[in-house]
Amino acid sequence: MLRPGRNDVCWCGSGLKYKRCHSNFDDKIEALRLSHAVVPGHNLIKNPQQIAAIKESAKINIAVLDYVAEHIEAGITTEDIDKWVYDLTTKMGGIPAPLNYEGFPKSVCTSINNQVCHGIPSPDVMLREGDIINVDVSTILNGYYSDSSRMFCIGEVSPEKKRLVDITKESLNVGLSKVKPWGFLGDMGQAINDFARANGYSVVREIGGHGVGLEFHEDPYVSYVTKAGTEMVMAPGMMFTIEPMINMGKQEIYIDEDNGWTAYTQDRLPSAQWEIQVLVTEDGYEIIAY
Ligand code: MF3
Ligand code: CO
Repeated sequence: MLRPGRNDVCWCGSGLKYKRCHSNFDDKIEALRLSHAVVPGHNLIKNPQQIAAIKESAKINIAVLDYVAEHIEAGITTEDIDKWVYDLTTKMGGIPAPLNYEGFPKSVCTSINNQVCHGIPSPDVMLREGDIINVDVSTILNGYYSDSSRMFCIGEVSPEKKRLVDITKESLNVGLSKVKPWGFLGDMGQAINDFARANGYSVVREIGGHGVGLEFHEDPYVSYVTKAGTEMVMAPGMMFTIEPMINMGKQEIYIDEDNGWTAYTQDRLPSAQWEIQVLVTEDGYEIIAY
């Protein structure tokens, strides 16, 4: 590891002297690295200016989801949701991150019932009473990224679906209780997995969360099927999503062959997902987008 002199400016870009900024941090990282832990590179550590800029992006992301929450109802199409997201995001000065991302054709992901994630909005898909839907919003503002998603119940939904939605939301808090500096991402992953399974559900293995902020998808990959004490160390200044996909039935999924994006449960039972963007702080975490 290349270390600046004590009185040189810190590598993080804060403008502060190294000795007053990340010098102790680097001591900790170096000790963990020597004990064979997976440690974050400096490129994954956000400085205060970057965090402030990402929070501005998140304001749009949250406002868009609030707008969806107020207007979503039976009879609208997922294309309507796509238009709301595009219009409000651009009106607020942002860009919808999914649009044209690796060929994704729309501004938002809308995943209904047995769709696990990456559902593509369409004028042919109308919401009906009893549906559960995940709306996954991501925003770029001045080059900074935010990413979060929520579930919505359309009218009266079955108690089974309602419970899946509620338990999945609760699993975020279970995961958050393990987000603290110098813990492991696997602590969080196992906590979510144990909680989901204790409630009779399964957790999707193939798709997970990710670092986010300076890019849409940064390291680390964040799994919810990992073991405590494994995976990357959580260090202050890291930012990532917690976005478990929890299935009512079996964990197996497949990807739509025609569009190459949308994941479905193999057993056709419902799946739910909530997503938050979190920052690891000196004494725990801060929720950036929800
Ligand atoms: N929040 C989703 C994710 O991180 C958004 C995917 S957008 C898509 O996977 F364009 F990739 F579909
Ligand atoms: Co995401």
